[in-house]
Amino acid sequence: MAVSKVFSSELDGIEAKLIEVETDINVGLHSFNIVGLADKALSEAKERIGSALKNIGVKSPNKENRKIVVNLAPADLKKAGSHYDLAIAVGYLLATEQIKNFDGADKIFIGELSLEGKLRPIAGALNIARLAKRIGKKEIFLPKENAVEAAIIPDLKVIPIPDLNSLIDHLEKREIISPQPKTKVTDHRSLVAGNVDISEIKGQEHAKRALMIAAAGGHNLLMVGPPGTGKTMLAQALNSILPAPDLEEVVELTQIYSAAGVLADSPYVNWRPFRAPHHSASPVSVIGGGQNPRPGEISLAHRGILFLDELPEFRRDLLEALRQPLESGRVTVARAKQVLTLPAKFVLVAAMNPCPCGYYGDSEKACRCGSFEISRYQKKISGPLLDRIDIQIEVPRVKIERLVEKQIKDSGESGQIKEKIAEIRARQRTRFANHNIFTNSEMTSKLVDQLTDLEKEAKDFAKEVFDRAHLSARGYYRVLKVARTIADLETSEKVSAAHVAEAYNYRIKLLS
Ligand SMILES: Nc1ncnc2c1ncn2[C@@H]1O[C@H](COP(=O)(O)OP(=O)(O)OP(=O)(O)O)[C@@H](O)[C@H]1O
Ligand SMILES: [Mg+2]
Repeated sequence: MAVSKVFSSELDGIEAKLIEVETDINVGLHSFNIVGLADKALSEAKERIGSALKNIGVKSPNKENRKIVVNLAPADLKKAGSHYDLAIAVGYLLATEQIKNFDGADKIFIGELSLEGKLRPIAGALNIARLAKRIGKKEIFLPKENAVEAAIIPDLKVIPIPDLNSLIDHLEKREIISPQPKTKVTDHRSLVAGNVDISEIKGQEHAKRALMIAAAGGHNLLMVGPPGTGKTMLAQALNSILPAPDLEEVVELTQIYSAAGVLADSPYVNWRPFRAPHHSASPVSVIGGGQNPRPGEISLAHRGILFLDELPEFRRDLLEALRQPLESGRVTVARAKQVLTLPAKFVLVAAMNPCPCGYYGDSEKACRCGSFEISRYQKKISGPLLDRIDIQIEVPRVKIERLVEKQIKDSGESGQIKEKIAEIRARQRTRFANHNIFTNSEMTSKLVDQLTDLEKEAKDFAKEVFDRAHLSARGYYRVLKVARTIADLETSEKVSAAHVAEAYNYRIKLLS
């Protein structure tokens, strides 16, 4: 009898891989089997496909007095989920010659079937479309809900499928479905809901300066201060001064969100992520992983901000698990037989009080904590984690005179800052064009040496503080990276001693 071959795809983390769906129909007692490391959801495909075909009036595999074997290859890659339904149904229709004159070699089919033959949306459409383009496939057939997302990829024909019947009519050329028009991702959302505008924050000039540096160079930031001084507010304001992601970033982000199945109402991510998991969040939800590994908050914060408010309240193991991604911009999660690597290049913004009562070091209110309590509280943040936070600042109480001042609502302020940040980020993109990184904070120590042109006094000063303050090698390079950004804020190619000094000030340990 007949054999057919069509293509589908498996999502391995955020990476789509090509899967061959081979259908073999042989003489024999009735049986219908799917082989090739299939999970439970996939083995239920038999039932869904059987019903879907029956309900659209096509002869279904459950009725055939034949031996039907569907083989998913490569066999060593575990297949999970229900999105193979469409490819298996098409493979079966081809093998039984219920559709003819059609070549599946340059096409990919993906989608889950409902019992009445409708298509249900899937996760990872952009990732699969990207794979299709890369390996030279010409057309991708997927649920119509996923079409706008997939059509971000240029030079790929995306065919939106409402139901199995329409697909059969299309393949048999009875009624052609028009391809999805290309998606433009240039209409950026200006502000994410709940955003704070930086001009709403009174006083805190020191903190605002630190925010600008963090935004410009992508540096991690820790804010320490008593309750109610605006730490949470400042963190939210940071998002409002970051430039919108460019196309390359939109594609990266959309792949992550699509794979995580959290695209929600938008077909793509064209905003700068701001993720603020609660301190009671589980390590898996923040770091990623799990049974069917999914991107965690740190990957959803890729190219954006991960805000950890009340830092010491987070679980210790969770904070320690942040160390590797903070260093490498990637997170590695272990699972059954292999490890999975996901992008996680985020700016960490953390806020905390200096002690349990919150008022240690405050100018007006006395602290009620014993020194042991204070030290135990601060020790929750380990040295290696602190060492990765380039900018550490105090956010003190704002004088009442400042607070009662009538806010001169300068709506131009944040716009100007945003423009400036965008400009500096663009300069960095040019600087690092051949190095596959976007911001100063991502430089390796070798790159710092190559690309940070220190004036003589700056060099002497850096050497002196390195010796005197017993900076770690990482600490030393991190100071220079921040200094590079501060020089960029002044459009200066050279890094001066004043730049290094300011950068070093942000590193003076607040906690000990
Ligand atoms: N500098 C400021 N300018 C304007 N409003 C402020 C400022 N600081 C605080 N506020 C007001 O106080 C509220 C509390 O500020 P916020 O939540 O940012 O404080 P916090 O430092 O995070 O406090 P906690 O340590 O208790 O979490 C804000 O919603 C805002 O209304
Ligand atoms: Mg707060």
